[in-house]
Amino acid sequence: MVGKRCPVAIRGHLEGTFGENDRGRMGTVAGWTGWQMRVVESARVRERLRAPTIPMFKVAMSSAAPAEVERVLTSGWVGQGPEVAEFERALAERIGVPHVLTLNSGTSGLYLALHMLKGRASNRGDPARGEVITTPLTCVATNWSILQCGFDIRWADVNPATMNIDLDDVERKITPRTRAIMVVHWGGYPVDLNRLREIQHASTALHGVAPAVIEDCAHAWGSTYRGRPIGAHGNTAVFSFQAVKHLTCGDGGLLVLSDTEYERAKLLRWYGVDREGRDCYRCGDRCEDDIPEFGFKLHMNDINAAIGLANLETADANVRRHRENAAFYDEALAGVPSLRLTAREPDRESSCWLYTICVDNRVGFVQRMFDAGIEVSRVHERNDVHSCVSAYAVHLPQLDRVIDKMICIPVGWWVTDAQRERIASTIRAGW
Ligand SMILES: Cc1ncc(COP(=O)(O)O)c(C=O)c1O
Repeated sequence: MVGKRCPVAIRGHLEGTFGENDRGRMGTVAGWTGWQMRVVESARVRERLRAPTIPMFKVAMSSAAPAEVERVLTSGWVGQGPEVAEFERALAERIGVPHVLTLNSGTSGLYLALHMLKGRASNRGDPARGEVITTPLTCVATNWSILQCGFDIRWADVNPATMNIDLDDVERKITPRTRAIMVVHWGGYPVDLNRLREIQHASTALHGVAPAVIEDCAHAWGSTYRGRPIGAHGNTAVFSFQAVKHLTCGDGGLLVLSDTEYERAKLLRWYGVDREGRDCYRCGDRCEDDIPEFGFKLHMNDINAAIGLANLETADANVRRHRENAAFYDEALAGVPSLRLTAREPDRESSCWLYTICVDNRVGFVQRMFDAGIEVSRVHERNDVHSCVSAYAVHLPQLDRVIDKMICIPVGWWVTDAQRERIASTIRAGW
């Protein structure tokens, strides 16, 4: 086994379940990296699991969606059209902003949000250079978009109380090269946006310019901060409507940005061509107009928008059920030995897309839960361990302390009263 690489089939299928420090307890294979061990141990767990009784994720598809999709499929138009326009109107109203841009994924939204920085008046020097301060605890979509746009990554540590980026560390790491601060509302729990604003002001005082704030709201549909929906706080915000999110289009994303940037981003999501100016997109006559700035193909189509519109009707109820389940765990798991709950502040409300806890002996915990037919997951590997970003490695002591303890338990709309009781009593019985 020495020096063997992980089988690609396994690598492609599985997310890591165990951390570096779990390796000794699981039995080490000489010559294998921590990452390889994690993948193989995940495979063992998955094999035992086969059909988990209580899954971590499910697709929330409204019963109205199939008919809506059929209507679009037979309408003679499936590209970006009236469904997208209607979906955007509805989304802007929900968030409480004048306009939004739908896209084909959250990743596209992150890419476009970062690309937009290159044209900002506040950019100094080479617009394609500079760095983005970001969290390593997220889906790689957050951080690979930074690289794709030609910026450097500057990792900030994670606040172990919330799993969100540590804003004190962000403030320490701002330099004149900082173009943006990327925050992720982990599991839907909002980052302190007022504190971020103060950090921007401090940067202006110190460096003469404030970095932009980009909120990765992929987990945060339905979250609120100080009584207003996440996405409505004056920063660039990006949502994901991927398969297992609170609001799904199958795949899709949303970009919320200021009035001044909206028109430019609207052009850039479709090659830089104005689709609306001459309503030419239906007739195919789009050859005449000059394109001042080249753009991309990132738009949503009417099929995905129709799915999204149907699901928008039921998403609120689903978020409510996530919150009810989370509130149940907050009480039922308080005081359990060797387990720590994450923080709750009264000025913000999580969408509770994830319910994250920290446990001692995570291997034992995971085995106990899987033996009881309860799927649990780390959801995302810390991004800074991947070799493609080794050049940016820094010491992140708080994340180091928490990464081998954190685990998410099922909290979704599909978890019944009886199931959440079972999950809590399984945990209370110990591992
Ligand atoms: C935190 C975070 N950011 C970005 C994304 C990317 O979103 P999408 O899959 O819609 O591209 C995800 C996807 O799960 C995510 O969890």
